[in-house]
Amino acid sequence: MIDKHDRATAQADSAASTATSSASGDAHESFLRDFDTMGGFGATGHGGVDRQAASEADNEQRRWFQGLLEGRGFTVEYDRIGNQFGLLELVPGAPYVLIGSHMDSQPTAGKYDGAYGVLAAAHAAFRIADEASAGGASAGVAEGAKYNVAVVNWFNEEGSRFVPSMMGSSVYTGVLPLEDALAVRDKAGISVEEALRPTGFLGEGAGPVAALCAEIHIEQGRLLENAGTTIGLVTATWAASKYRVVVRGEQAHSGATVMEDRKDALYGASLLVVFARELTDRFPGKLHTAVGQLDVYPNSPVVVASEVTLLLDLRCDDEALLAEANALLDARFAEIEAKADVEIERTLSHSWDINPYQPAGVDLARSVAEELGLSNDEIMTVAGHDSTNMKELVPTVMLFVPSVDGISHNEGEYTEPGDLVAGLDVLTGVVRHLIRGNLS
Ligand code: GLV
Ligand code: MN
Ligand code: MN
Repeated sequence: MIDKHDRATAQADSAASTATSSASGDAHESFLRDFDTMGGFGATGHGGVDRQAASEADNEQRRWFQGLLEGRGFTVEYDRIGNQFGLLELVPGAPYVLIGSHMDSQPTAGKYDGAYGVLAAAHAAFRIADEASAGGASAGVAEGAKYNVAVVNWFNEEGSRFVPSMMGSSVYTGVLPLEDALAVRDKAGISVEEALRPTGFLGEGAGPVAALCAEIHIEQGRLLENAGTTIGLVTATWAASKYRVVVRGEQAHSGATVMEDRKDALYGASLLVVFARELTDRFPGKLHTAVGQLDVYPNSPVVVASEVTLLLDLRCDDEALLAEANALLDARFAEIEAKADVEIERTLSHSWDINPYQPAGVDLARSVAEELGLSNDEIMTVAGHDSTNMKELVPTVMLFVPSVDGISHNEGEYTEPGDLVAGLDVLTGVVRHLIRGNLS
């Protein structure tokens, strides 16, 4: 298992170039060309993208992706929360192996997060479709198939425009009620339903029935790169607690009001921001925290803020330690209320546990990577993914490829093309097994 403290620097192995020079070179080129095209949707001009859920850039990319899938003979459908599915039928009436990720992004984000996994899923499915038709309807890869293949682009994984994250997969898996998701509003007051309805991406059904699932994603950390490993075999997710916190004070004149009379909501919120950061010092390497969003009211010069809403995120690789961190946070809330003379209300808006991915899926991914001669190791994911939800519903395989310098949610996100196509090859191999129901 690669862990957080592994700082070994190894030279990148030659696996990726081996993968590119293999017989699937054309397939790799076609994948990289399509990936380049995707980077143009919502391009920021600095190598990044801005494709927040149901924005024009997200919609435009979805339309392009629909065309790509249909052009390869896939049927495209949408479920009632706007998840986009490309269906390849190998076994009429059978359930599906769901493979994919998300194409929405954070603002001024990188172009690999999510988008790589959706396109890799599509190209893995294209190869399988080609292999199936080359072998005749009942021969080749389709022989022995128990399941169909659905490429999925989950709606609103990022949760930047509409909170919470992983929305599409949460509704699909039944963790989040559909009505609650559709009613979520962005800062401009537009609901998910209002944003999706005019796009034509709001379907009626619950989507294809999943039997198994696979997702590939960039690591968004430095462990694979530091270890010189090409493929991460994800064993479990760090636990997360995400809070929506409202700090309430009283509006006042920022100059005239005497200091003792102030109930400064922004002062209270600032104490919390600092505490959240310093809390991580007590759990070195085990706890990550951030306040990622801060809304200040009235956010005006010469006014002491009366209300601040903030989103606070805690991640930990140990549930007991996370509980300890949450307890320390609780105690600090009370101290801040007294010190800043404010009231604090908090809601746990989203959370997940450290549940493992099915070990048989990790073994399967390992054996495929070994067959391809690609270096691989077990790893945990610190970020949440749609597969975090899916693994609670069906056996799910989660794969990582390296992120250069671990940069993510940043326009500078980068993964070497050789690693992208190496991951595509592993995913394709995994899906070939999954459609037969082989999990080891
Ligand atoms: C993903 O949605 C995350 O919060 O890591
Ligand atoms: Mn992602
Ligand atoms: Mn992301």
